[in-house]
Amino acid sequence: MTELEIRPLTPVLGAEIHGVDLGSPMSDSTFGQIEKAFLDHMVLVFRGQDITPEQHLDFGRKFGEVYCPAMSAFPPDYPEIMLLDTTTPKGAGADRWHCDATFMTEPPMASILRPLRLPGEGGDTCFANMAAAYEALSPAMRSLLEGLEAEHDLSGQLRVSLDRGISPDDYETLLKRWPPVRHPVVRTHPGSGRKSLFLNGNTGSLLVGLSDAENDLLLPFLLDHVRAPEFQCRIRWELDCVAMWDNRCTQHCGVPDFDERRIMHRVTVAGDKPR
Ligand code: SIN
Repeated sequence: MTELEIRPLTPVLGAEIHGVDLGSPMSDSTFGQIEKAFLDHMVLVFRGQDITPEQHLDFGRKFGEVYCPAMSAFPPDYPEIMLLDTTTPKGAGADRWHCDATFMTEPPMASILRPLRLPGEGGDTCFANMAAAYEALSPAMRSLLEGLEAEHDLSGQLRVSLDRGISPDDYETLLKRWPPVRHPVVRTHPGSGRKSLFLNGNTGSLLVGLSDAENDLLLPFLLDHVRAPEFQCRIRWELDCVAMWDNRCTQHCGVPDFDERRIMHRVTVAGDKPR
């Protein structure tokens, strides 16, 4: 059995995985090591991977069903891949701390990102560990949050998309197709059993059952808390680098510090109902 080399990025989050070629057939034992590393580190980085869109999709399918989320562009011939093509990242949405597609009743379990074109400098992606964020709260705050649900509402992000070019008809259709959904604020990971904070600074989260004044006080605290640097790791992209994250227990943010074209392909793996 070939042992993969696993180099943690920080004490709490992320690891670089060496010794695997994502474009070649993979043994069960190699995939088992990747699955375990994914559970342990939540964000995995594979460098030196010159893979095609088909190989990218095949790797994603090892984890489950793949799809391109609502409202997203996809590259010609690859309707299951999400295309992120940006030159003006500020305000686009991915530049705010978020987890992906929590407006769905079953948000994705993972996303796998691969650059096709990078700016000369900048365009890193930052990640934060939501289990570490939860565990850093006081027992009193944890027990307050334990039974709460948050409402995840796509309308704010849709208005951004309207400003950035989707048609008013598409806006209305998407608004009807994706009404607000409720998820637990504290989510238990189905693989590790670890609890984490499950909020989204992008598709607004409203704490259900709390008054407006209580939301105004608690939400900014929580959304700020998850951004603490000690919960984070940061990926500096290179072409041929592939990174994947566990969308159930991490948040991420694309750093909007570039003004040259940046093109990424994202394969999104279906998830389950948060509990
Ligand atoms: C994403 O939010 O899915 C992508 C983040 C990035 O482009 O760095």
